[in-house]
Amino acid sequence: MNEPVTLTISGSIAIINVNNPPVNALSHSVRRGLVECFAKASQDNRIEAIVLYCSGRTYIAGADITEFGKPMKQPSLPQVISIVDSIEKPIITAIHGTALGGGCEVALTCHYRIADKNARLGLPEVHLGLLPGAGGTQRLPRLVGIEKALDLIVSGRKVKLPEALAIKLIDRVFEGDIVKAGIDFANEIISKKLPIRRISTAAVEQPEAAMEYIEQYRRISTKKHRGLEAPMACISAIEATINLPFNEGMRVERKQFLQCMESTQSAAQQHMFFAQRQAANINDLDKATPVRAINKVAIIGAGTMGIGIALNFSNANIPVMLLELNEEILTNGLDSISQYYQTQVAKGRLSEQKAKQLCSLITGTLSYNELNDVDLVIEAVFESMNVKQQVFSQLDQVCKQGCILASNTSTLDIDEIAAATKRPQEVIGLHFFSPAHVMKLLEVVRGDKTANDVLATAMSLASEINKIGVVSGVCDGFIGNRMLKGYGREAGALLLEGAKPEQIDRVMVDFGMAMGPITMSDLAGLDVGYRVRQERRKRGEFVSNYDGAISDRLVEDGRLGQKSLKGYYRYQENSRTPLPDDHVHKLINQIATELGYEQRVISDEEIVKRLIYPLINEGAQILDEAIAQRASDINTVWVFGYGFPVHKGGPMFYADTIGLENILHDLKQLQIKYGDIWQPAPLLQKMALEGKKFCDL
Ligand code: CAA
Repeated sequence: MNEPVTLTISGSIAIINVNNPPVNALSHSVRRGLVECFAKASQDNRIEAIVLYCSGRTYIAGADITEFGKPMKQPSLPQVISIVDSIEKPIITAIHGTALGGGCEVALTCHYRIADKNARLGLPEVHLGLLPGAGGTQRLPRLVGIEKALDLIVSGRKVKLPEALAIKLIDRVFEGDIVKAGIDFANEIISKKLPIRRISTAAVEQPEAAMEYIEQYRRISTKKHRGLEAPMACISAIEATINLPFNEGMRVERKQFLQCMESTQSAAQQHMFFAQRQAANINDLDKATPVRAINKVAIIGAGTMGIGIALNFSNANIPVMLLELNEEILTNGLDSISQYYQTQVAKGRLSEQKAKQLCSLITGTLSYNELNDVDLVIEAVFESMNVKQQVFSQLDQVCKQGCILASNTSTLDIDEIAAATKRPQEVIGLHFFSPAHVMKLLEVVRGDKTANDVLATAMSLASEINKIGVVSGVCDGFIGNRMLKGYGREAGALLLEGAKPEQIDRVMVDFGMAMGPITMSDLAGLDVGYRVRQERRKRGEFVSNYDGAISDRLVEDGRLGQKSLKGYYRYQENSRTPLPDDHVHKLINQIATELGYEQRVISDEEIVKRLIYPLINEGAQILDEAIAQRASDINTVWVFGYGFPVHKGGPMFYADTIGLENILHDLKQLQIKYGDIWQPAPLLQKMALEGKKFCDL
């Protein structure tokens, strides 16, 4: 195997190259190679300066995350960096692509940094539940000042070139050949006798009253990064630069780093890093499956969902035709698109010209006949099988051969929808999550007859529009909404048994959910579920008290949620803050008494179990039925579609941390008390008995 780090000599300059595809991660062989090459260059008397650069698509993108959790092989990254820091010859590094994490720390240890115009730098460790562990928290404040370092390290954001130049993270931009640029700069340093600039010996630029500043920053961050340990550890390590010399600061960083590395939060975040990438792999689909070109898209329905979906495509520079049979709705829809782009300009996110160009990509039509040249249609009409089948039958008649016909249904059977066409192989589900232009998740529902290239195209399109695609099989609610049912059911049950809306929401927010289930229902509109339940009742289906008893009464009292300023909570005009409502407390009490539920004090711990364990149990069933390909896909759906806390790794990873045998025990207890809605899924039982974990699957 070729060595991933090589040294070549050009006159008095040593050129060290890192070539470790795909992203030049700092694997053991790279760390060892760096030590060897830097040592040789440093000891060679002919050498006056050293240039470090990388091959392939990027600079070093960080530590090798696949090595985390395994026994550490020497040299460690801090050792490599300490060796580089001790070299008495100028070191120049030339950056292209992304210099991230350990890669950025290597760059910070070099004395001069040049970059091409597309380069980005950052210390994103916080997203893995970590802090920069190889001097980043001590060097960056010495280079850019404490305030900027806090901003960059605690947010983990990547810095583009103009900002990198402005804060002196980069000394110069280069164009053209990277090696030549490095050598030219090295020669300039030699001829001008420019000094070695070791950041580790620099003074730290501090804000006035630095300790107070940090304290204030810590207070704000505690709120902003609710429940997360890594941002706090980052702040503590950066704080050490205020009073401590570099080496002592490094010890503080190390201690914080090791603590984070051992935490469940970091394990969960590392799991999610790989989970979201793994989701792109489809087990029985050849990676070389060709994808179809999608140059023009049509969306059926100009409601909130249709508009949100359309924006995904215009934002990715793909023209969209919005079809709506009602002219007024179409005009309103197009107006709201134009308003969205105006807001983007007002917020400084887009230039006036760019906004105009993107907005012009969406056009409206009232006629199906205009869809004859589109490559993909996404239907986002009323959630009714009849309506959807009519739409698909019409699409079948007007769309060209090879056009993909997709439904945004959140629950209905894609195969039944496909049966309304003569081309079921072209039909697929593309389930967007509200707000559709914001939420990262796209559930890609594979029908019985969906062609392989249609599926491959949908997955590739997901990443083109900046979504994370997860494949689901066909079932009621697919992966996400099927699991959501038990969560909603138990929220209703807990209310009837005595928990207050605000207690349930607080417990779930403390658990880390973006929002509690009751606030979520108020936000979505209680009338939505009400209509679904009425339809189900009309069809003679059973609707349990848990699902509807309270919500139905609220809707019938005109309490539709946030939009009517009252639902489970009260709201003030122009405010989304839920205010507890005694009237609702009394109403719940009254309904519970009417239905024979005895109200009691319910512990926070019980609320967590009653809401989260149904997710896990249903998730196990979904895995067993092969609706989801793997447990990590379920986690991806819940983290990116439903706001499940990333630091708990999604419901199936969370189950592993609790222990499947413990969950099985509790499910059995709940089954005794509440009946077979708590029947443990066979796969969960089997795995618990075998001592297995979901996320080893
Ligand atoms: N270690 C190991 N594998 C990595 C990796 C890393 N740091 N970064 C990316 N990969 C792998 C991905 O898993 C993926 O593998 P598969 O093809 O098998 O799925 C492959 O490299 C390509 O990655 P992407 O699909 O993400 O490619 P991209 O071009 O879209 O993005 C990237 C490239 C911007 C570098 C992105 O991969 C990324 O953000 N990587 C993580 C960067 C990071 O967090 N670095 C900090 C690491 S922690 C650290 O360094 C701690 C420390 O100080 C000791």
